[in-house]
Amino acid sequence: MEKDKIFIPPIKIQGIKTKLVSVIKKNVILDIGTTWVEPFMGSGVVGFNIAPNKAIFSDTNPYTIEFYNKIKSGNINSYKVRAFLENEGKKLEEKDDEYYYEVRERFNREHNVLDFLFLNRSCFNGMIRFNRSGEFNVPYGHKPKRFSKAYITKITNQIKYIENKLKECDWSFICQSFEETIENCNGKEFIYCDPPYIGRNVDYYDSWNEENELKLNKLLLKTDAKFMLSTWDYNQYRKNEYIDKIWHNCHKINIEHFYHLGAKEKNRNAMVEALITNYDTSKTENQLVFINQQIRLNAFA
Ligand SMILES: C[S@@+](CC[C@H](N)C(=O)[O-])C[C@H]1O[C@@H](n2cnc3c(N)ncnc32)[C@H](O)[C@@H]1O
Repeated sequence: MEKDKIFIPPIKIQGIKTKLVSVIKKNVILDIGTTWVEPFMGSGVVGFNIAPNKAIFSDTNPYTIEFYNKIKSGNINSYKVRAFLENEGKKLEEKDDEYYYEVRERFNREHNVLDFLFLNRSCFNGMIRFNRSGEFNVPYGHKPKRFSKAYITKITNQIKYIENKLKECDWSFICQSFEETIENCNGKEFIYCDPPYIGRNVDYYDSWNEENELKLNKLLLKTDAKFMLSTWDYNQYRKNEYIDKIWHNCHKINIEHFYHLGAKEKNRNAMVEALITNYDTSKTENQLVFINQQIRLNAFA
């Protein structure tokens, strides 16, 4: 991969940090021998781009974890994925939404992670969301020709990138809650946390509440490892009160996003995100970063 080019992983998720990877990267301090620990892996885009020699990726979503463990064991590879998506993509093209919902039902019965990939890449906005019974419930993205040759090649190249990284690096994928992941650290790690954003609507495998945020805060403040937390700081309507309440002893970098909710300048809304660290980032490259971003109206809902 070319220097500075961001690698996009095969499995997507809402809240994916693709746009923030380069800022995060510039502010991470990864000494030799340090293990990268990512307790809220999501798509893995941050750690995959940091590309450390040793890493622990964990999440409570068992399907993402199983997907990467199967790549690691060779059970899933880019050839298998190509054949699978070509076959399933043809059926989607013929039967459209009927087929998407057939696969969704099949996945909720059998939990095949290739079906999970298929759903993730053809559902609405690449979302991951489960109902209370643990069933994947994201609706169809309404693109019957979704799995074009070029799109399948894109996905299989993403898988090839991971296959190659797994040959060079010592990366583990573990399905467990953040408590367990952080409690297993001994201080020789860099812990990057991107939990569901507190106080905002969340739709992941688990919900996120004040109790979780407080527990995360306690565990991170106790650790001897360096850590970085991604969270939201404020927008024109609201402020994340937990920053002053519980993260006040930490360092903070603000990252400003502009969300264009229409063509007019007055509709340009700023959302300020924060990177919270337990180390001084003044010697790293960024203090305030502006990222201009054009998004669809529903992408922030
Ligand atoms: C904001 S997403 C992470 C996005 C990721 N940084 C990326 O760029 O793709 C939050 C993740 O936390 C996971 N999660 C939610 N509750 C959790 C918990 N209690 N322990 C571990 N992971 C959890 C969700 O399954 C989701 O994958």
